[in-house]
Amino acid sequence: MADPWTSERQAGIAPPDLWDPLVRISHWGIAFIVVMNALFTKGGSPLHLWLGWIGMALLLLRLVWGVLGPVEARFSAFPPSPRAALSHLRGLVSGRAPQYRSHNPAGALMVYAFWVTLAVVIGTGLLRTGGQTPMQAARDAAAVASGDWSVLVTETDGGGESRFGTLPGEVHTVAANLLLILAALHVAGVAVESRAMRRNLVAPMLTGSKRRRG
Ligand code: HEM
Ligand code: HEM
Repeated sequence: MADPWTSERQAGIAPPDLWDPLVRISHWGIAFIVVMNALFTKGGSPLHLWLGWIGMALLLLRLVWGVLGPVEARFSAFPPSPRAALSHLRGLVSGRAPQYRSHNPAGALMVYAFWVTLAVVIGTGLLRTGGQTPMQAARDAAAVASGDWSVLVTETDGGGESRFGTLPGEVHTVAANLLLILAALHVAGVAVESRAMRRNLVAPMLTGSKRRRG
């Protein structure tokens, strides 16, 4: 079978001028939620759980879209390939900046790294809370505020313990920090690629069309 990355380059394909609404909404939604939950909300609070559950829904929608969505949003348009990523980066260094139908091969690896890490963060969050919904968490918080501590005498509350011990909480925090590191690399990567490709890559993720310059 032909290597999709090579055949894309040969076909002279261009990336979208505007990503479809689902990609854009899931992108900015997930970005907002990751930054909020990693830096600003209290771990385990009802708000943290609300954002986490919405993030889970957005991730699931995006993954379904990776099969059913428009061509450039499909996994088949940006398969994970470390070899293609390396050759793309080597090309950038030597001044070649080919166009791709979807994410470039290096960006594609970053996208998969995000999704896997986010799934780990959400999965360990669910393990840590025993699947407690944000509504239940809010009821528990209200009960504690009114002096009823009995809701905390369960195995999923207090001291970072879950029925799986402290491991889910620890993995959750480490993976959440990893998400922030990936995000910093991602933003740097977008800036470098935008320069190399002489194309504003952020515009198609916002409201659209910033065509190739010069
Ligand atoms: C976007 C995804 C998420 C990010 C970036 C994130 C990030 C974090 C971070 C950094 C902490 C440590 C906070 C601290 O030490 O005060 C934390 C704690 C916690 N998170 Fe999340 N979280 C996310 C999603 C979730 C989800 C989906 C759940 C549950 C369904 C959840 C449940 C918890 C709980 C219960 C804690 C307290 C952990 C403990 O003290 O052992 N999180 N989260
Ligand atoms: C925590 C923050 C962020 C996360 C988790 C994140 C995650 C992602 C993911 C998963 C994708 C793939 C989109 C898809 O196919 O569904 C993506 C693409 C993209 N992101 Fe982010 N992102 C974050 C912040 C940002 C910021 C701040 C910017 C703007 C500077 C940005 C600009 C872009 C662009 C331009 C693309 C498309 C790149 C291309 O043309 O191939 N992202 N991001």
